[in-house]
Amino acid sequence: MTVPYLMEDQREAGRLVAKVDADAWVHTYLDPVLPQTPGARVLDVGAGPGHIAEAVLRARSAAQVVAFDGNPERLASGGPDGAGPLRRSGDARALPFDDGSFDVVYSRLMLQYIAERDVAIAEMARVTRPGGTVVLFDLDGQLIWHDPLGPELSALLEPVTTALTAAGFDPHTGRRLYGLAHRTGLTDLDVRVDPYHLIAGRIDPVQRSQWELKLDIARPLLARALGSPQAAQEAVDAFLAHLDSEETLTYSVAFTVTGRRV
Ligand SMILES: C[S@@+](CC[C@H](N)C(=O)[O-])C[C@H]1O[C@@H](n2cnc3c(N)ncnc32)[C@H](O)[C@@H]1O
Repeated sequence: MTVPYLMEDQREAGRLVAKVDADAWVHTYLDPVLPQTPGARVLDVGAGPGHIAEAVLRARSAAQVVAFDGNPERLASGGPDGAGPLRRSGDARALPFDDGSFDVVYSRLMLQYIAERDVAIAEMARVTRPGGTVVLFDLDGQLIWHDPLGPELSALLEPVTTALTAAGFDPHTGRRLYGLAHRTGLTDLDVRVDPYHLIAGRIDPVQRSQWELKLDIARPLLARALGSPQAAQEAVDAFLAHLDSEETLTYSVAFTVTGRRV
């Protein structure tokens, strides 16, 4: 069974892999908390095709790494079970693992899509062993922070963000991670914030094609939010024109909250 996901599309696995240097991400955000101990157990929640979990295995070849996602086909597209990380599917809001099964549990860019993110974080904490580490990584401002934000783009963004919110998406998930982790009872919280999107002036061709794909995958939602496929096309054109302008800045930030399970 596939857990509903706003960006569901055959092309989503390829999009996710293309937009991150997984080894660099693991080096920056996970390496400090990944145990050196052989057999250390690590869980990636909302793993997509498992590209980040594979990088964890490259960093700690003796670890037992599980890539977990709501879409079994996307997971399988990353490779067969047994080669690389173990691949398991299900719902992050009811993880199919025993209490205290993992030394490190992390989630990258999933929580923003789940309205019940408090439940998912509580589940992540539950399956982490006492003394183990939970790492939450998510964005703040994606899609909505631009300068200048002209009236045309503003008029388009309003109904789209309303529709996204109704579908459970929160563009300010990043800033909420600290409070969510605190309320879950995680301790020794460490908060870090880094630039994520940063497009000053004309967007480069690689990033532009990534945005084109993202907007194309989001096209059904845009059409529903704006009333017609034609209105969705006009919104895509206006957004890409904004990114193509020498005069505009678009940005978002990524929050990383690391905590210890008591
Ligand atoms: C934006 S992708 C992030 C993938 C990967 N973590 C990365 O950083 O590239 C979000 C992933 O979360 C998964 N997802 C969304 N809601 C989920 C849920 N309730 N349970 C499990 N996975 C879920 C989706 O299937 C999707 O693969």
